[in-house]
Amino acid sequence: MRNALLPVIVLAAIATAGCSSLERSRALGDPAVPAQSIAMQVCSNCHGVDGNSVSPNFPKLAGQTEAYLTDQLKEFRNHRRADPAGFEYMWGLSRHLSDDQIAGLASYYAAQKAAIPADLDGTPSVRGKALFEGGAPDKGVPACNGCHGTNGQGNDKFPRIANQHADYLVKQLMVFQRTDERPEGAIMKTVAHELSVDDMTQVARFLEAMPVK
Ligand code: HEC
Ligand code: HEC
Repeated sequence: MRNALLPVIVLAAIATAGCSSLERSRALGDPAVPAQSIAMQVCSNCHGVDGNSVSPNFPKLAGQTEAYLTDQLKEFRNHRRADPAGFEYMWGLSRHLSDDQIAGLASYYAAQKAAIPADLDGTPSVRGKALFEGGAPDKGVPACNGCHGTNGQGNDKFPRIANQHADYLVKQLMVFQRTDERPEGAIMKTVAHELSVDDMTQVARFLEAMPVK
């Protein structure tokens, strides 16, 4: 029994050590380190060098709006954005970032071009497209493109949602709908209120596969 548990404990220890060693990186906690070095040495481990992460556990930051990136990093730093993955991964990493470093990181990722994997199934979801462009008037759900832009590219405090990992989009829609863990997202709480899980999945699939613009 004890032996059977051992690998689990060892794996858990490695996972924890991995994250905290990133948090202890010399690139963090020193206001003299330029944002680009932090991006390369720390953030790239999860979000990819150019902000196009591979794993859907980590949101893409490439082509995200500068204002939204700045806001979210500050929301993690001041512990207002408290959804579990944000709390677990981003609180420690953002703790020592200065305002200047946050501004530099936001500008770096905003300037990167979003990308989608070549093998992504690009068959557009018909229901997803209808929700994005027209909402669901019968349920009082507004069209997404009204705030997030015709191509889902975002604008200022309205984030880019085009080409984001579908799993991450669904997860965040659930956070808005069911919790108060993202207090800056009060508007999205209203938007997501009447969305079914199937609608969330369809609109997320449509968004992920949108042509990159
Ligand atoms: C160990 C992995 C890891 C590292 C390293 C990491 N992040 Fe994150 N980051 C995450 C996860 C996981 C999330 C999703 C949190 C959630 O679901 O709320 C996230 C979310 C974010 C978001 C919010 C994105 C959105 O669309 O709302 C921003 C911005 C961000 N990270 C920036 C950074 C920056 C800048 C760095 C480097 C200082 C960094 N991250 C390093 C794991 C990481
Ligand atoms: C009235 C304006 C408005 C409408 C309409 C709207 N959104 Fe949003 N959305 C926002 C704002 C503002 C945020 C940023 C919230 C924050 O800062 O926490 C956001 C955030 C999001 C996020 C989180 C992005 C991330 O990177 O974490 C997702 C996903 C999202 N919206 C999806 C949708 C979908 C899908 C629709 C259509 C069904 C939609 N939104 C309609 C204003 C809107």
